[in-house]
Amino acid sequence: MKNVKAIIFDAYGTLFDVNSSAEKCKDKIGDKWEDFSSYWRTTQLEYTWLRSLMKKHKDFWQVTEDSLDKSMKAFKIDPSIRNELLDLYKILSTFPEIKEVLQNLKKKDYKLAILSNGTPALLNELVKNNNLDNIFDDIFSIEEVGIYKPNSKVYDIPIKKYKIQKEEVVFLSANTWDVSGGGNYGYNPIWVNRNNNIFDNLDYKPKYEVKNLKQLLDIV
Ligand code: LAC
Repeated sequence: MKNVKAIIFDAYGTLFDVNSSAEKCKDKIGDKWEDFSSYWRTTQLEYTWLRSLMKKHKDFWQVTEDSLDKSMKAFKIDPSIRNELLDLYKILSTFPEIKEVLQNLKKKDYKLAILSNGTPALLNELVKNNNLDNIFDDIFSIEEVGIYKPNSKVYDIPIKKYKIQKEEVVFLSANTWDVSGGGNYGYNPIWVNRNNNIFDNLDYKPKYEVKNLKQLLDIV
């Protein structure tokens, strides 16, 4: 890829494993922990889209709590583990290759940033807890514009800050709809397809697809 000025990462699901909270409680949740975790994530995302459409913004932490409460009822999870699940969500683990790849990219001449639905406080805590401080030039949160991805105001944030062209951004997301959002906006997205998922039909197909972030080093 030529003329890349910034490499921008989605956070939840791309750098940080959203299933790691429920996974750490799997003894208490039982076999249904994966279905429960996936339902929680889907509900959380639906709430972001619905709140953006209704113009009823609540921050990502409140949305995470609200979606957890619905999911716990749906899966009849013992209410006594609610706080444990939430505390673990604040310290989600990264996927195994993330740190090394980011450290390698840091040696090159790109702006490195996160662009996420998370609040600044949540994102800073995740970065700190996973010892990724000093990697990112910026951690951009949608709280700056008060509407969730995939609204174009979100993807505008780094363009305005860095005064660069949309096509000078490489955008990495594991979330197909976020790749569609960033691609329709004008970024160069790379889809991080860790689990052999199927891509969306939303007027955009990514030119690049990787299994994990290690392959990114061959592309840029
Ligand atoms: C984020 C969501 C999309 O980090 O995972 O923005």
